[in-house]
Amino acid sequence: MNVVVTRILDVAADIRSFEFEPLGGHPLPGFEPGAHIDVHLPTGMVRQYSLCGPRESSNAYVIAVQREAASRGGSLAMHDLKIGDTLRVEGPRNHFPLEATAARSILFAGGIGITPLLAMAEHLAALSASFELHYCVRERSRAAFLERIASPALRERSFLHIDTEPGSTALDVALAIGEPAPGKHLYVCGPGGFMTHVLTTAQRAGWDDAHLHREYFSAPATPALNSVSPLESFTVRLAKSGRVIPVSASQTVVEALAANGVHVETSCEQGVCGTCLTRVLAGEPDHRDLYLTDVERAGNSQFLPCCSRSRTPELLLDL
Ligand code: FES
Repeated sequence: MNVVVTRILDVAADIRSFEFEPLGGHPLPGFEPGAHIDVHLPTGMVRQYSLCGPRESSNAYVIAVQREAASRGGSLAMHDLKIGDTLRVEGPRNHFPLEATAARSILFAGGIGITPLLAMAEHLAALSASFELHYCVRERSRAAFLERIASPALRERSFLHIDTEPGSTALDVALAIGEPAPGKHLYVCGPGGFMTHVLTTAQRAGWDDAHLHREYFSAPATPALNSVSPLESFTVRLAKSGRVIPVSASQTVVEALAANGVHVETSCEQGVCGTCLTRVLAGEPDHRDLYLTDVERAGNSQFLPCCSRSRTPELLLDL
């Protein structure tokens, strides 16, 4: 879809929200809380951003982007946008859905991780569902959308934790999550260390992984690799053509395929977004992504070739 930037707001220090409306006025597809769109930037990069605008608002998508000086360029390109610029967006897609049967939802947002969780909190409030939102920031100036969080629908069930503010209550994850229970679900989005803290606290408290829902913005500096060493080099066999393509130790599978004229669509190239998801028909992948669940990884029937490798000399791919 081609869209035009109709509104840009500074919603916190280094965080801007952007509103997109369709070129030509066609209706935009609706979206579920937790969904994101792929934004094709003028620089040629494609980035995923969670939709955080109120779903019942006009025919527009709203995202918020934190300016990251150390980023790979996506956030800087976003912050260079001007009102009236046109862009292509794809989606919405939802890899971070709310569990429809949840009796209670506990939402944890760290920094810019508030974007999908704010949409979730507003949705749950509209349903009169049982939930609470914990929003952690370093400084108050870095907290976005405070007026929405202070709205009558959310304020009773939202807790703002500000690291540097005297009197602000520090987040106690163990206290917030309590004991695991069949209807309780936890959702977390934010910086890698924050997410690890929330998730390991829940795992230590006995929470089942199926009740822990997470969305990463980017891969942590030290990815969670499998304990078994991957093969340095291996081959991939393409089921549809029978071609065998070598993957060297210094190549990703996506790069090796591209070098042989086989295009696999990618976006994050970090194993986060799921865009390059490919079916595996035989062989055992060495999963290095943050996208698949543990159960999906154990099934070995799909992998993310932008980052994952192989534990067997050959992988047979459904390509
Ligand atoms: Fe995002 Fe592979 S391109 S997971």
